[in-house]
Amino acid sequence: MSVNGNNLDRWYSHYAERTAGLTASEVRALFAVASRPEVVSLAGGMPFVSALPPELVTSAMERTMMNRGGVALQYGSGQGVPLLREQILDVMALEGISASVDDVVVTTGSQHALELVAKLFLDPGDVVIAEGPSYVTALVVFRSFQAEVSHVAMDEQGMIPQALRETIANLKAAGRRMKFLYTIPSFQNPAGVTLSWTRRMEILEIARENDILVVEDNPYGLLYFDSPPPHAMRSVDQDGVIYLGTFSKTLAPGLRVGWAVAPHAIREKLVLANEAAVLSPSSFTQLVISEYLSSADWRGQIDIFRGVYQERRDAMLSALQEHLPKLSWTVPTGGFYVWLTLPNYLDSKSMLPRAVKELVAYTPGTAFYADGGGRCNMRLSFCYPSPDFIREGIRRLATVINGELELLQEFSQTGPLTRREIERHYISPPPNLG
Ligand SMILES: Cc1ncc(COP(=O)(O)O)c(C=O)c1O
Repeated sequence: MSVNGNNLDRWYSHYAERTAGLTASEVRALFAVASRPEVVSLAGGMPFVSALPPELVTSAMERTMMNRGGVALQYGSGQGVPLLREQILDVMALEGISASVDDVVVTTGSQHALELVAKLFLDPGDVVIAEGPSYVTALVVFRSFQAEVSHVAMDEQGMIPQALRETIANLKAAGRRMKFLYTIPSFQNPAGVTLSWTRRMEILEIARENDILVVEDNPYGLLYFDSPPPHAMRSVDQDGVIYLGTFSKTLAPGLRVGWAVAPHAIREKLVLANEAAVLSPSSFTQLVISEYLSSADWRGQIDIFRGVYQERRDAMLSALQEHLPKLSWTVPTGGFYVWLTLPNYLDSKSMLPRAVKELVAYTPGTAFYADGGGRCNMRLSFCYPSPDFIREGIRRLATVINGELELLQEFSQTGPLTRREIERHYISPPPNLG
């Protein structure tokens, strides 16, 4: 055993410094329990792939193997299959983006595109600006490149431009190097809110003025409920925006195909970084998706997904209204997530073991902040459980929250909270997104 090792890992002292950011989340062990069937999990963000008829994928696979088996089983281009890149242009056109085949780089899910962008731009000590809260695994990527995340507050309309201006001014005054602004403008993960068109324009303007690249991550934009979100930011700025897309939510995440659209010079470097990492993204799954897009009614399938998620969103919102009417939450108009705000003296992370004991799980708000924020928030996902399970899950959650409130009342150090104090905290302010 190495003198510098620890009991569990002989090679502990050999790791690169950047791996310090690669720590398993404190709630991971609980999530293993939460995946048991008797637990209603409102924690994960798994798409409901059962709404996709398997025969659509099977027949695309068969045709791929019959017609292009030799190509499908071979290494391919580091930029991705040209025909698929062309079809990706049709997908993006639905959100107002016009690009050329040459601008698109296919990646192993958009997660990998995020990793490649981080690898191209981040040195230790650099700053990434992101919404607060933001996508947990993007925060992990940025941390693994030893960058810091500076959060910008949101409200129901998404990132607040004035808050962005202030964050940039403060970072400049502190002499920090800002590399890019990471944003999920439509049906944000985890907050569920959507950046308005006016704000999209204002934020692009601020980024331009300050010479900050924008990374627009858009996995959920096509999963709207009543009307589409505003067009993508990339649709109006081709020089200042790297756009990330994926088939994970509109088709299936198991295929692991996403893409990046980037200004020309960045795109060249992305291809080189992609080759260095994986040589080429999977030829097989790219061709299967290409075949699916050519032969199946993929727009109709996205409509089916929308219907499924809308029904689940409705179930969650009405259950929250029924069981936790005094709390506040965001009202997503698409995507997978609701962001719940607890009374400010409750802690969602410390409450989680009790919730799991009551057979319901959620993701504590702190997972979505790099700076310890989100203590009295939680993300509730409505994408995977059936509407009945969602209603039951929220009922259980209400039991836990009300139980915590009663406990606090009994054991409050300053003596029992008065009815008035409870009311004051319990009727929480508008959803806390800051
Ligand atoms: C905001 C966001 N970005 C990226 C990803 C990664 O998606 P993919 O499956 O394309 O890697 C997710 C997955 O949940 C996500 O929510």
